[in-house]
Amino acid sequence: MSKAIIRLGPRHKKSLYAGFALLWLSGALWLAFHYFLRMDGEFGPEAHPLEAWWLRLHGLMAMLALALAGSLAPNHIRLAWNRRRNHRSGLPMLALTIWLAATGYALYYFSSDDNAAWLPPLHWIAGLALPLLLGLHIRRGRRRALPRVNQPQHPQQRHVAAPSYNPPARIKASS
Ligand code: HEM
Ligand code: HEM
Repeated sequence: MSKAIIRLGPRHKKSLYAGFALLWLSGALWLAFHYFLRMDGEFGPEAHPLEAWWLRLHGLMAMLALALAGSLAPNHIRLAWNRRRNHRSGLPMLALTIWLAATGYALYYFSSDDNAAWLPPLHWIAGLALPLLLGLHIRRGRRRALPRVNQPQHPQQRHVAAPSYNPPARIKASS
């Protein structure tokens, strides 16, 4: 069995970045199309046909993003929390994810004309800020990461033998 570690494996990290990037992009594209790219219809401005597709993509990515966030719980979050590592930016990351899930749920089931002015911005203003907080979390985490012990940085280094003794020129000349 592999050893539990806080640091994410390359495939795990790639899926996390791809999932969160698509989640953010689908939300941002919906906003752009909804507020700036409306079309002229027979009866005045109407929604661009792509607008509905961005929201469909967003709903799909929201489910995947929550699964990805959950995949961090057993190792990344549990171990980092127990060792109090990077939790000053980790906890806001966790809180933001929970906030987005809760306001996304509210948008899906409770949005109405009465709350149209304040409920959506509660969700998407926080959503737009997600990459900033994630970037900060990663930067702080990497800066404070412990150096890898007994792990060569490059695969070739695994096979490097101890360097042979090559005395400085002055010693060579005198011997
Ligand atoms: C939804 C919540 C979270 C996400 C999406 C997230 C994501 C990430 C990512 C992508 C990295 C960079 C990993 C790397 O470069 O290998 C990272 C680093 C880190 N995170 Fe999180 N994290 C979250 C929550 C937390 C929490 C709650 C904690 C602490 C209690 C935490 C502690 C750390 C630590 C210690 C590192 C540095 C790991 C290392 O390189 O040694 N994270 N996080
Ligand atoms: C874990 C993170 C997230 C979850 C679970 C989530 C979930 C949801 C859900 C369920 C909806 C309602 C969909 C519908 O009405 O059909 C929604 C709408 C939306 N989300 Fe997210 N979302 C998340 C992150 C984000 C991010 C990062 C952004 C970035 C811009 C964002 C922007 C939006 C926008 C603009 C809407 C449409 C608002 C409206 O109908 O007025 N979301 N989200």
